[in-house]
Amino acid sequence: MADTRTATLTFDGKTIELPILSPTVGPDVIDIRKLYAQGDVFTYDPGFTSTAACESAITYIDGDKGELLYRGYPIEQLAEHSHYLEVCYLLLNGELPTADELADFENRVTRHTMLHEQVHNFFRGFRRDSHPMATMVGVVGAMSAFYHDSLDITDPWQREVASMRLIAKLPTIAAMAYKYSVGQPFVYPRNDLDYASNFLHMCFSVPAEQYKVEPALAKAMDLIFTLHADHEQNASTSTVRLAGSSGANPFACIAAGIACLWGPAHGGANQACLEMLREIGSVDRIPEFVARAKDKNDPFRLMGFGHRVYKNFDPRAKVMKESADEVLELLGVHNNPLLQVAKELEKIALEDPYFVEKKLYPNVDFYSGIILEAMGFPTSMFTPIFALSRTVGWISQWKEMIGDPTGRIGRPRQLYAGATAREYTDVTKR
Ligand code: SDX
Repeated sequence: MADTRTATLTFDGKTIELPILSPTVGPDVIDIRKLYAQGDVFTYDPGFTSTAACESAITYIDGDKGELLYRGYPIEQLAEHSHYLEVCYLLLNGELPTADELADFENRVTRHTMLHEQVHNFFRGFRRDSHPMATMVGVVGAMSAFYHDSLDITDPWQREVASMRLIAKLPTIAAMAYKYSVGQPFVYPRNDLDYASNFLHMCFSVPAEQYKVEPALAKAMDLIFTLHADHEQNASTSTVRLAGSSGANPFACIAAGIACLWGPAHGGANQACLEMLREIGSVDRIPEFVARAKDKNDPFRLMGFGHRVYKNFDPRAKVMKESADEVLELLGVHNNPLLQVAKELEKIALEDPYFVEKKLYPNVDFYSGIILEAMGFPTSMFTPIFALSRTVGWISQWKEMIGDPTGRIGRPRQLYAGATAREYTDVTKR
C-alpha cells in the first residue's frame, strides 16, 4: 500500500525520491521500480536477503518472533484445530470454508485423485533406483502432455481445474514413485479415505493382504502436510512464480518448483538431516560434528539447522517435535537412537555460542525425517512428501501472481563482471 513517505537516494549529483510502501504487518518496502529509469543504476542483492519480489496476502513470517501465519491464522492454531484440506481451501481462497464449502472442496479433491492410465507407462521409462524426486519432476511436468483441457492460464476455469488436479494427484504420483522404487504394484486411490489416509494406503498397502490405516499415523501425516503447505517467497515458490510469469502452464510451473525444492539447502534438507543423524550415530560423536559445522574450512553444515528468515525457533519445528514424541511413543520406538541423537544435538547446538550468535535453530526439516522414518518411509521419500504438501502453496502463490493485472515477466538484471567488447581472432593467431 503506497503512502506519502519517500526514501531519498543521492549519488553522482542525482537525487531520486523513491516511494515507501507499507504492508499490513512486517517491514516497509522501498519501491525501486523507477530506479533504473531515473538513476541508470540497478540494486544488487544476489541472495534476495533484502528484496521483496512481489506483493502477497497469503503467508506471513516474522523471523524474529518465530511467527508463521497462513492467511492470518497462526500455524499453531491450524495445526491443533484444522486439517490439511481445510488449510488448502484457506490458502487458495483466503478465508476458512463453511461446512458446505469444505464438503464440496473435499469432494472435488477426492474425485481428482486418479491419474490418466497412460501415465503409468511413463513411470516405466525410469530406472527402478531413480530418486523419487526425479520421477516426480518428470511425471508432474508430463501432466501437461495429458490434461490439455487445463493448460490455458488465461481461462479462470482451466486454472481452477489444473489446481484441483495438482492438489489431488500429487499424493498419487508420490505414492506411485515410491511403489515403483520398491518394485511393488501401484495402488489406486480410494474415495472412502481422507487425504492423508489415502496417501498412506497408496504407499503401504499391498494386494496380498488387507491394510488398515492407523488413525493416529494418518493424523500425524496430515499434520506434516499442513506444516509444509506454504512458506512465503522461499526458493521453490519463487521458482514457481518466475516460471509462471512467462505464461508457462501450471503443470510445468509446479514441476519447476519440485526441481528447486530437491536441493539439500531447501526441501532436500529433511533427507540430508536424517542421513546426518545416522552418520553421527551416537550421542558421544555429536561434539565432533558440531566442531565440523563451526569449522570454516569444512563445508559440513548441521542439516535441519538455520533458516534465512527464522532467527528464532521455526514454529513448525516446535509442533513437529511434539508430534515426533507422540508418533514414536505410539509406534513403540520412543527410544529410537536417532531421536536421542537429535534431541541431544539440538540441546548442545542451542547452548553453543557459535549457533547462538548466528541464531541457528532447528528448522522444519529437523524433526520431520524422524517421524517419516518411524512411519516406514525411506529417506528418499522425505522430499517428495514435502513437495506434495507444498503443492497447494505453490498453486496459491501462482494463482495470486497470474491474477495480478499488473503482472509482468520476471527478468532480473546483473552486475556484469565479464570482458568488455573485443575483436574475434582467428584460431591460427591465438
Ligand atoms: C527450508 O526459505 C524457506 O522458507 C525454506 C523452508 C520452506 O518452508 O520453504 O523453510 C524450507 O528450506 C528450511 C531450511 C532447510 N535447510 C537446511 O536445514 C540446510 C542447512 N541450513 C543452511 O544451509 C542454511 O541455514 C540455510 C540455507 C537454511 C540458510 O542459509 P542463509 O540464510 O543463506 O544463511 P548463510 O548460509 O548465509 O549462513 C549464515 C551463517 C554462515 O556463517 P558465516 O559465513 O556468517 O560465518 O550461518 C552459518 C553459515 O556458515 N550457517 C550454518 C548453518 N546454517 C548457516 N553453520 C552450520 N550449520 C548450519 N546448518
